[in-house]
Amino acid sequence: MAETWTLLRLLRWTTDYFGEKGIDNPRLDAELVLAHVLKLDRVGLYLNFERPLNADELDAIRPLVKRRGQREPLQYLTGQTEFWSLPFEVTPAVLIPRGDTEILVEEALNHADAANGSLLDVGTGSGAIAISLATELADWQVTALDISSDALEVAARNAEKNGVARQMQFLQADLAELPQQQYDLIVSNPPYIARDEWDELMPEVRCFEPQQALLAAGNGLDCYRKLAAQARSRLQPGGWLLVEIGFRQAENVSQLFRDAGLQDVFVRDDYAGQPRVVGGCNK
Ligand SMILES: C[S@@+](CC[C@H](N)C(=O)[O-])C[C@H]1O[C@@H](n2cnc3c(N)ncnc32)[C@H](O)[C@@H]1O
Repeated sequence: MAETWTLLRLLRWTTDYFGEKGIDNPRLDAELVLAHVLKLDRVGLYLNFERPLNADELDAIRPLVKRRGQREPLQYLTGQTEFWSLPFEVTPAVLIPRGDTEILVEEALNHADAANGSLLDVGTGSGAIAISLATELADWQVTALDISSDALEVAARNAEKNGVARQMQFLQADLAELPQQQYDLIVSNPPYIARDEWDELMPEVRCFEPQQALLAAGNGLDCYRKLAAQARSRLQPGGWLLVEIGFRQAENVSQLFRDAGLQDVFVRDDYAGQPRVVGGCNK
């Protein structure tokens, strides 16, 4: 007679399988996949270890385990993630927002001095940065710009989900041609991976996240060059351009900002001590 699949037995099997597939935290991911399908939180999972799983549950779990085993990111399997302690829908059309990007949100808040200010988020993706800032800056107008219409649809749903849609505008445009308007803050986490860094990326990123969200020409600096060139004409006097950077890019991006006439250029490290944000002011 076939052995019963209890929750604990399946959790152990999935953990071993994910480990063989080279996944970093196999036990955690196994717990999260099972918890998602069974609509339990992780404590609920632990309380139900001895529960036998029925055929429908096993049928629902199997394809997700297989996809994660092929290194598809967990967030694309569950369709959700958290950023700035807010819930975000994610699809393969958008980059999965990274915890490190919260440093950019913090810096934007540190530089958001105006009342009723205006903010432009360039390359908004899921809308993580723009929407987090909109929740903090209730009297600001926030424009979320992306070249991808599929990404903008996800961002618009996330704005609804987080109750900030009324404050926000969504704009499909190329960052080479920013709107002819002057903002108090321009923030961006643009594509910044150089072509020759591509092979170093984890399979989760390289094979599943949108290439358009990751790769930038000019040794990874092309978007910064375009943003810096437009910054003075698109910022209010005293306004700031703040960008996330790759950890090797602080020098080059700071220089691009200074060459474009931005003042008080600074670099902010993330909590792992890596340079993460460059800012410059239109004085
Ligand atoms: C690194 S992702 C950042 C997504 C999101 N802001 C975040 O931090 O999670 C870069 C985003 O820039 C968008 N993008 C790429 N090239 C662009 C361009 N030329 N003009 C406007 N947006 C662009 C991509 O579609 C993608 O959504």
